[in-house]
Amino acid sequence: MRKKIVAGNWKCNTTVQEGVELAKEVSELVAKSGVKNVVVVLGTPFTHITSVVGAVDSQLIDVAAQNCAADAKGAFTGEVSAAMVKSTGATHVILGHSERREYYGETSATLNKKVALALANGLTPIYCCGEALSIREANEQNAYVKTQLDETIFNLSPEDFSKLAIAYEPIWAIGTGVTASTAQAQEMLAYIRGLIADKFGKVVAEETSILYGGSCNAKNAPELFSQPDIDGGLIGGASLKAEDFLGIITAY
Ligand code: 13P
Repeated sequence: MRKKIVAGNWKCNTTVQEGVELAKEVSELVAKSGVKNVVVVLGTPFTHITSVVGAVDSQLIDVAAQNCAADAKGAFTGEVSAAMVKSTGATHVILGHSERREYYGETSATLNKKVALALANGLTPIYCCGEALSIREANEQNAYVKTQLDETIFNLSPEDFSKLAIAYEPIWAIGTGVTASTAQAQEMLAYIRGLIADKFGKVVAEETSILYGGSCNAKNAPELFSQPDIDGGLIGGASLKAEDFLGIITAY
């Protein structure tokens, strides 16, 4: 059965000390809650990962980077390679977030390289896709997301593809307080699962965890997560407070 995943994306927030405190709080709350059926991931800044890995109960909490370099190593000042991420103890890496595509010019070509390096280094990519408001208003979101997938992770072998998770994050719902309606989210995730089935077969499609992200919180998570194709969430703002994040983790 496919995994349920609730992943926090802290983005560019918290100092190392604040991040460690937050991670400890989440770890303790998850332990107290007794939740066992959800993979909980903390997506922290690079600088925090080693400390956060050391601060949490590794049986309960996985740690993710929010990016990795498109090259294995070498003269790329300021970059952090997939091998470096792996060596911190992180298990996941968020790739293709719309903020990276928009502000840092990440293209499908770059993402192909990043996904390949993440997989080669034993990291689980959480691959993000999702459309801007203008595309949704033109009702072209399905074609847009299909192209994003076709140009990147649909080039993988079925074996590699089955190692990653996907997060659908409509840009218009990120940080805006406007969540996609449950029907919109379910419809898109079912559509993505159908595309996976066409490309890799039904078994792979049924095993792929597909998450929703965009203004997801403890209040709307129970309804979103009740949908048959929504396997969890990628959470921004609400992952920065341990109690709020726990409310999402326990929403199943
Ligand atoms: P918010 O939950 O703050 O809308 O952010 C979603 C997101 O971008 C997670 O990657």
